[in-house]
Amino acid sequence: MFKHWRSDVEAVLTRDPAARTALEVILCYPSFRAVRRHRRAHWLWTHNMKLLARIVSQRTRRITGIEIHPGAQIGKGLFIDHGMGVVIGETAQIGDDVTLYQGVTLGGTGKDVGKRHPTIGNNVVIGAGARVLGPFTVGDGVKIGASAVVLKEVPPYATVVGNPGRIVRQAGKKPANADLDQVNLPDPVKERIESLTRRVEQMEKCLQRRIPQECEDCQQECCDDCLKNRKEEQKDEDL
Ligand SMILES: CC(C)(COP(=O)(O)OP(=O)(O)OC[C@H]1O[C@@H](n2cnc3c(N)ncnc32)[C@H](O)[C@@H]1OP(=O)(O)O)[C@@H](O)C(=O)NCCC(=O)NCCS
Repeated sequence: MFKHWRSDVEAVLTRDPAARTALEVILCYPSFRAVRRHRRAHWLWTHNMKLLARIVSQRTRRITGIEIHPGAQIGKGLFIDHGMGVVIGETAQIGDDVTLYQGVTLGGTGKDVGKRHPTIGNNVVIGAGARVLGPFTVGDGVKIGASAVVLKEVPPYATVVGNPGRIVRQAGKKPANADLDQVNLPDPVKERIESLTRRVEQMEKCLQRRIPQECEDCQQECCDDCLKNRKEEQKDEDL
């Protein structure tokens, strides 16, 4: 229950530029409070005092807005920035030095039984409002963008964004391999619109070649009347 005290405080001090002293972290940070209380609830859970564990966990939720099921396994150095709206399911496992922002859900899809929540590796960052749903693994050093919805395993050191989550960086580089490149997938609607735009531009060029761009008479786009008048004037001049 007590062995992670120092790393829980250091997690906040090193990852939140707004945190100034250890005392401030202990007194003011919902993350520190929720994680400490979770360790107590988890101890009760694993020592077969499950109801008491649930009571502690639900009280933590009321105090901090962070709901961590007492069965969830959490490593050292977890930092939950701002906290409100975070949900961590019963069979979730979280490695060391993980950062979660507000509104993150580590949940199940409702389709699995037994292990139904994700396993998060070490040094993972999960952005505000992201949902990681299902019993798969998120590798070490992964970054998950704000509001992403991740439904599949993520390899280590990948950056995942969007809904459904797709890999946009692998070890800091854009995926070179076409199989890995899940960003530049063909978009048939976009391709059709681009093709129509090209045709319209081509037709406009053809029309411009036949009709002068701007009419000297009305100083506007050429109109039939102006063209007729100009032809008649030309005829008069020729005579
Ligand atoms: C995902 C994240 C960690 C990426 O950081 P990064 O490694 O520096 O990656 P980049 O900024 O180079 O972004 C990579 C690509 O993903 C896109 N991207 C980044 N974050 C995104 C997001 N949340 N949603 C959709 N696309 C996103 C970028 O536009 C970029 O696209 P490109 O390949 O077309 O250039 C970061 O953008 C993020 O979302 N962090 C969470 C922050 C947060 O929740 N803050 C809350 C504070 S209260």
